Amino acid sequence: VELLSVASEMFPFVKTGGLGDIVGTLPPALSAYGIRTRTLLPGYPALRMVQSGGRCVARFADLLGHEATVWENRLHGKDVFVLDIPELYDRAGDPYVGPDGNDWPDNDIRFAALARAAANIAQGAAGGYRPDLVQAHDWQAGLTAAYLHYDQRPAPPVVQTIHNLSFQGCFAASALPRLGLPAHALCIDGVEYYGQVGFLKAGLYFAAWITTVSPTYAREIQTPEGGMGLDGLLRTRAQSLTGILNGIDTEIWNPEHDPDVHFPYRLRDIAGRAANKRAFQAEFGLPQDPDAFLLGIVSRLTMQKGIDLLPDVAADIFGDNIQLVVVGSGSLSIQRELSILQRRFPRRFACHIGYSEALGHRMPASVDALLMPSRFEPCGLTQMSACHYGGVPIAARVGGLADTIVDANAAALAGKAATGFLFSPVEAATLLAAVRRAHATFRDRQAWATLQRNAVAYDVSWSGKAAQYADLFRMVVARARPREE
Ligand code: ADP
Ligand code: GLC
Repeated sequence: VELLSVASEMFPFVKTGGLGDIVGTLPPALSAYGIRTRTLLPGYPALRMVQSGGRCVARFADLLGHEATVWENRLHGKDVFVLDIPELYDRAGDPYVGPDGNDWPDNDIRFAALARAAANIAQGAAGGYRPDLVQAHDWQAGLTAAYLHYDQRPAPPVVQTIHNLSFQGCFAASALPRLGLPAHALCIDGVEYYGQVGFLKAGLYFAAWITTVSPTYAREIQTPEGGMGLDGLLRTRAQSLTGILNGIDTEIWNPEHDPDVHFPYRLRDIAGRAANKRAFQAEFGLPQDPDAFLLGIVSRLTMQKGIDLLPDVAADIFGDNIQLVVVGSGSLSIQRELSILQRRFPRRFACHIGYSEALGHRMPASVDALLMPSRFEPCGLTQMSACHYGGVPIAARVGGLADTIVDANAAALAGKAATGFLFSPVEAATLLAAVRRAHATFRDRQAWATLQRNAVAYDVSWSGKAAQYADLFRMVVARARPREE
């Protein structure tokens, strides 16, 4: 099966969060199951190396009013198509946000052009390349299925994948003609969404199948509480909606060979983590106390992640011998709250504001526990790298966190099944109780070691999940094929 994957980010070229990780690590996992992936990405500056030495596979004189070139190349073992439209993508900084911290004002055209190019390639515009299936990731690729629908030409089916329903890609309806969509598309059975053009809505409406990144999130998004306005549509599509958990690349995530881990240790060698904890405490100017319960957070700083709950619990948590390190970037107001905490609790709390892949790897190798007080979490990846490296997750019981963590209640502890601590509802009091419960377990060295061993044994790899994707993709391709007489 030939799969055209369409996305706005891909590790290791461009990444702002888990989406980039998944777009980058799913293709090699799928190849083991006979699915060959090529990924179409916007031509950001970070992708210039794809063009140099790449092959030009398509040129469009007028792609939504822009001259566009598609380059193909194989880099880091990944087959990529890069859509080169310098005036749309050749900008320094973030894929979505300009230097002023606001979304690029032409994001509608920038990502409509991505979807338009994907639709053209799906219809055969890139030489002999004929994909059997298209996977459109999040709202940025959402219009792909809509273009293919309105073009009314033979085309492969589209699977729309939801990584995060809170980013919906809604733009003024007046943009419709510039987006190359017919006027009659602006209706409830089309791309219209509460009076606007909804890119994700369009994808969810027109895709042959919808996937999201955990079974629990697949259920949550069909409820008014979790659906963010799209639950009604998602309920009507319930028969074509599947939740498949994310995996992580266990070759990249291996504490024995991870170049960012100062003191490499073998998986399962829990004792080997002690030196990393000490070094991490030193790196952040915290007392190098092995008995201190060291917590970590590595995350985008947004409402989703619940980090704004920390000031409410800080005095209680730091009254005990507990330390916390936060590595994150995002909301200025959350950053401000974190710097206030740092001034209030200099011997207990430290943070690094900014994106640091190295710290993202060092943290799970060093902390005793990883904190994830997410208000919602489609899947979450950091709890998985934490488990794999022997760090125990303390997390909200939502979405993929509920699916990937077994709470350390008495029965699960006794049955050696527990891998972490879950709490709900997501509020300061329950967060505090979970941290206290974890701290009590931490002080029982044997119980804690068992918990760590269980966490390490939990399978975070892609293998089983990629097999589920492969089965699903084959089924969608088979259903789309016209029956032979
Ligand atoms: P989300 O996609 O919602 O941001 P995930 O847990 O799925 O959450 O994935 C986040 C990814 O981004 C992980 O690989 C995590 O390590 C990484 N990450 C997030 N923030 C930072 C940061 N400030 N520095 C380094 N890595 C980060
Ligand atoms: C999103 C979600 C996160 C998920 C990631 C990759 O950004 O917030 O939970 O793990 O996508 O699917």
